[in-house]
Amino acid sequence: MTTTLTLPATPRRIADLPAPPGLPLLGNLLQLKPEDFHNQLEHWAGKLGTPYRLQAGPRLITVWSDTELMQAVLRERPERYRRTREIEDVLSEMGGNGLFSVEGAAWKPQRRLVMQALAATHFRGFFPTLHAITERLYRRLLRAAVAGEVLDMGRELKRYTVDVTCALAFGQDPNTLEQEGDVIQDHLELIFPMIMQRIANPFAYWRVFRLPKDRRLDRGLKVVHAYVREMMGKARQRMRDDPCETPRNLLEAMLAVRDEPDSQISDDDVAANVLTLLLAGEDTTATSLAWTMPYLAADTALQSRLHAQARDIFGTEAVCPTHDDLRHLDLFEALTTEATRLHPIAAINSVEPLQDVVLDGVEIPKGTRMFFINRPALRDSRHFAQAERYDPERWTRDRHEGAGGAQAHNPRAFLQFGAGPRVCPGRHLAGVEIRLVLSMLMRHFEIELACDPAEIKEVLAFALTPSKMPVRLKARMA
Ligand code: HEM
Repeated sequence: MTTTLTLPATPRRIADLPAPPGLPLLGNLLQLKPEDFHNQLEHWAGKLGTPYRLQAGPRLITVWSDTELMQAVLRERPERYRRTREIEDVLSEMGGNGLFSVEGAAWKPQRRLVMQALAATHFRGFFPTLHAITERLYRRLLRAAVAGEVLDMGRELKRYTVDVTCALAFGQDPNTLEQEGDVIQDHLELIFPMIMQRIANPFAYWRVFRLPKDRRLDRGLKVVHAYVREMMGKARQRMRDDPCETPRNLLEAMLAVRDEPDSQISDDDVAANVLTLLLAGEDTTATSLAWTMPYLAADTALQSRLHAQARDIFGTEAVCPTHDDLRHLDLFEALTTEATRLHPIAAINSVEPLQDVVLDGVEIPKGTRMFFINRPALRDSRHFAQAERYDPERWTRDRHEGAGGAQAHNPRAFLQFGAGPRVCPGRHLAGVEIRLVLSMLMRHFEIELACDPAEIKEVLAFALTPSKMPVRLKARMA
């Protein structure tokens, strides 16, 4: 099916779409605060429906929230639609045009590169490392619980995902859970927000002059790229000195694919994809986990049930003992799926058509920015029975088991990992990390939020992040 099927006798044009009132020249620019952008788009969607248009300075943006339409468009990539062009422009000039941003004919070989690398390092082989890093997190949290410390849980979880992602990517574990200040991580912390700022900025001033923050970024990028190249050199050396049938990490797996005849992959592509995996894998998973904390804290009965379940599975072990046991932890992953339904960490997915199309009876010229906002469907009672309620078990019930014609859950409306050929290739790894961390937490601790939940605000950064997540843990005796 193509998205051009709906062709009414007189299609509407973009100018006919409803729009929020704005100022001459600036349009709606002053109403759009970067950290609150998603809320503003959702607020207008509530008033204007879908689709609508807005003007952010020189940029015309159309905004959409119909699930089936978004599904159909996402599935027609990369031939008919691409991500909005700023994403590729900004990441290319930083030497990071990897799988997330690459477009056109270059996308397919890179997708193959990353998928093969993720499959080759298969998680069963990686499980002992994941197990060890989860145990390390357990020890760190236990120390904090005994000392009665309030933890910044966003930060703790980020340390965990950084250690996991780096260990998988390079085979080198930075151990940020036990030691401060990893050089690469410190630079990445600077690079991520700058990527977002540049993509969102309608005026690409940095191509004309550099502010101090742009010069800092240049220095950070230089260090990170030098590090990635050094890692590539070491990986090649190790592959020569100690050949191994199964690649020991993603970098080795990607270098093996790159060296295949006709791979259409260069060393620059491998380097860009190392950066992409670090970028795409850390904040997303840590933030999804962080949003789960307030819901667990609010329901001690749920915590008790999860504690009993984890204790049965773990036996005498501190964390989930084997890769096979992960499959008994569906409900633990559902805790986060449900939290990110209510706080979609991937709040917006943006695309543009590569040719003129007609969508929902509207003529959309090639290159028009289309922003897909995910939350309206996620809180729609047609897709989720009692949509405002945190109910993780909805994901383990049959999807049609809702009340009054509603569905328990509609997986098509859950676009947290995207859809179609460009669906997130890291979702399985994220699921494994989520199962391991939440089962360990529930096995050993009672969770309390150390602030009023109403104080926690959503901040749109790379992911939709909680403004804070102070948590107090109480160690369980049994
Ligand atoms: C809970 C955690 C995560 C969430 C919510 C998430 C979400 C997303 C979303 C929404 C997309 C865009 C999909 C689309 O356009 O259809 C995406 C793409 C991507 N993700 Fe994830 N992600 C997560 C974890 C990860 C991890 C752990 C990795 C790798 C280690 C990863 C690597 C990527 C890459 C490389 C892409 C680009 C794929 C392409 O364009 O072909 N993600 N992710």
